[in-house]
Amino acid sequence: MPRSKLWSLQVEKPFIRRGIAKEAETTHTAKMHLKSLLFFFILISGIFCQYDYDGYYPSEPDYGYAHSMFGPSTAVCAPECTCPISYPSAMYCDNLKLKSLPIVPSGIKYLYLRNNMIEGIENNAFDNVTDLEWLILDNNHLENSKIKGKVFAKLKNLKKLHINYNNLTEVVGPLPNSLDDLQLTNNKIIKINSNTLEGLVNLTVIHLQHNQLTEDTLSGVFKGLNSLLYLDLSFNKLSKLPRGLPPNLLMLYFDNNQITNIPDEYFQGFKALQYLRLSHNKLTDSGIPGNVFNISSLVELDLSYNQLKSIPTVNEHLENYYLQVNQINKFPVSSFCKVVGALAYSRVRHLRLDANNLTRSDLPQEMYNCLRMAADIALE
Ligand SMILES: *[C@@H]1O[C@H](CO)[C@@H](O)[C@H](O)[C@H]1NC(C)=O
Ligand SMILES: *[C@@H]1O[C@H](CO)[C@@H](O)[C@H](O)[C@H]1NC(C)=O
Ligand SMILES: *[C@@H]1O[C@H](CO)[C@@H](O)[C@H](O)[C@H]1NC(C)=O
Ligand SMILES: *[C@@H]1O[C@H](CO)[C@@H](O)[C@H](O)[C@H]1NC(C)=O
Ligand SMILES: *[C@@H]1O[C@H](CO)[C@@H](O)[C@H](O)[C@H]1NC(C)=O
Repeated sequence: MPRSKLWSLQVEKPFIRRGIAKEAETTHTAKMHLKSLLFFFILISGIFCQYDYDGYYPSEPDYGYAHSMFGPSTAVCAPECTCPISYPSAMYCDNLKLKSLPIVPSGIKYLYLRNNMIEGIENNAFDNVTDLEWLILDNNHLENSKIKGKVFAKLKNLKKLHINYNNLTEVVGPLPNSLDDLQLTNNKIIKINSNTLEGLVNLTVIHLQHNQLTEDTLSGVFKGLNSLLYLDLSFNKLSKLPRGLPPNLLMLYFDNNQITNIPDEYFQGFKALQYLRLSHNKLTDSGIPGNVFNISSLVELDLSYNQLKSIPTVNEHLENYYLQVNQINKFPVSSFCKVVGALAYSRVRHLRLDANNLTRSDLPQEMYNCLRMAADIALE
């Protein structure tokens, strides 16, 4: 759907749409290219057609961007790999059917080894490049037992470690405390050792979606990660929310788990949380204590594809609220506004209630005063 059209709808009463649940499912094909978290924020903050789960999976390198960031180097290249002249500290060894690592000459800082058949990493593999900053190993056959010694911990400048789409059963470690971005999606991870992430003071982003994690294995493992802004645990096997998450998170994703309830005051400690996704879980009304989602920093809340019969109360600052595909059969204004007045009103702009048990006639007239910012309400 054309987003520009949605933007322009600044009418007195919100535009009420019908039946877009299906449509939206098929329009999420556009890939976002995440170059920085900032760019991501901009996209996300304005998004109405919902994100797709691969949206922030970085696919192609961007030589121009990289070149502008990193100075020249005098590195030579492994014969089977490519080191672009304009980006000589990067070595690309993608799609080469490699079964083991190539020799990595000193001077390389950005190493790409995607789409190979690498099963293991020897302890000395990076001894010539201990100042490696990015190590991208997506789409290989890596197993924990074949990653030897402290091979990552030795890389004292490592910032990005991506081992998406491999054969890992636990989070790799030990890790260097320079790490900023850890991505281990689409493995078979069932375990994180309690001290694996300890002391990673600069870790900002963790992608663990599409694994087999349960809440007991996660209890306390993220504690002390005070730089962590982004944690994605969607497509795992959580039946509860994990305990001991760090307080500065901005984005927290739990979609596609089996979560049935949320402990009272669970989100109290989060002072900056802006994006919270819990779609495709097993949430029911009785699993949601009254004020649990009344989080004043929250901008976007996704509770779609659950088993809710009523609309959980949210803070007046919330802007995007996704509730499609539940069993909601009433629309109390008090879920959005406890009181309505000159300054007391809901900031909700986009509200999805399609595929529930609600029709236009269920919307109370007094809602328009509370939801005065709404640009788009999807129903039926
Ligand atoms: C390190 O560099 C030396 C000299 O180029 C090379 O002989 C050796 O194989 C390299 N070691 C690794 C682990 O790549
Ligand atoms: C992953 O590991 C399992 C057993 O641990 C093995 O059967 C399977 O072939 C491995 N897959 C890949 C792609 O290496
Ligand atoms: C964390 O990041 C800051 C700022 O980039 C840097 O100065 C500091 O050395 C980093 N800490 C570690 C342990 O690498
Ligand atoms: C949310 O909580 C605040 C204070 O904690 C309260 O003033 C506000 O009325 C609550 N919002 C709703 C919709 O109940
Ligand atoms: C929808 O709501 C109506 C009226 O509240 C109720 O009679 C009906 O059983 C509900 N249908 C479903 C599928 O929940």
